[in-house]
Amino acid sequence: MSSITSIQAVGRKEVITGARDLSREVLLRDVQDEDLPIFFEHQLDQDASEMAAFPSRDRDAHMEHWRTKILADETVGKKTIVVDGDVAGNVVSWVQEGERAIGYWVGKAHWGKGVATEAVRKFLVHESERPLYAHVATHNVGSIRVLQKCGFIIRSRARVSLPDGAEVEEFLMELR
Ligand SMILES: CC(C)(COP(=O)(O)OP(=O)(O)OC[C@H]1O[C@@H](n2cnc3c(N)ncnc32)[C@H](O)[C@@H]1OP(=O)(O)O)[C@@H](O)C(=O)NCCC(=O)NCCS
Repeated sequence: MSSITSIQAVGRKEVITGARDLSREVLLRDVQDEDLPIFFEHQLDQDASEMAAFPSRDRDAHMEHWRTKILADETVGKKTIVVDGDVAGNVVSWVQEGERAIGYWVGKAHWGKGVATEAVRKFLVHESERPLYAHVATHNVGSIRVLQKCGFIIRSRARVSLPDGAEVEEFLMELR
C-alpha cells in the first residue's frame, strides 16, 4: 500500500485514508442516508449559501434532491467527508452538458482547517475523468483556492442564472 493513500474497510464501507502525519484525519466514505440531515444543516447556513452562490433548499427539497438526483444515479460520484469521526461535508461529481463537474460542501465548523483541500485531493483519486470541471462563483475565494491547490486552472468567466433567478459571475475551472 502507498504511504500516501491507502484503502481500508470500516464496517462495509470503503474508506480512503490519508497520510498518517495529519493532525486530523480526513476520510472519504460512501454516503449513507443518515448523512443527509447533516448535509441539510450544512447547506442551510447563510454564509455558506452566499459563498457558494447557491440558494439553500428546504428540507423536503434537499432530501428529494439527494435521494433521487444523487444517491439513485450511478453516474453521479459521491462521498461523505468524515473528520475525526464527524460528518464534515460531501464531494460530488456529475455530468453537466456533456462535461463532468465536481462540487463539494464543508460544514462551517470545519472550515479553515484544510478539510476541503484534503477531501478533494482524495476524491480525485477515485474520480479519474479528465478534463474535470468546476463552476465556482468569482467571489468564492476559498473554493477557488481549494481548486487551484488541487491542480485546477481558470478557463473562462461567465454570468449565469441561479435557480432563484438571481445572476452570479462564475469561473469555469478545469483539471486536465
Ligand atoms: C469553500 C469551502 C469548500 C472551503 O473549505 P475549507 O475546508 O475551509 O478549505 P481549506 O481549509 O481546504 O482551504 C483551502 C485554501 O482556501 C483558503 N480559504 C478557505 N476559505 C477561505 C475564505 N473564506 N476566504 C479566503 N480564503 C479561504 C484557505 O486559507 C486555504 O488556502 P491556503 O492553503 O493558501 O492557506 C467551504 O468554505 C465551503 O464548503 N463553503 C460553502 C460551500 C461552497 O462554497 N462550496 C464550493 C462551491 S464551488
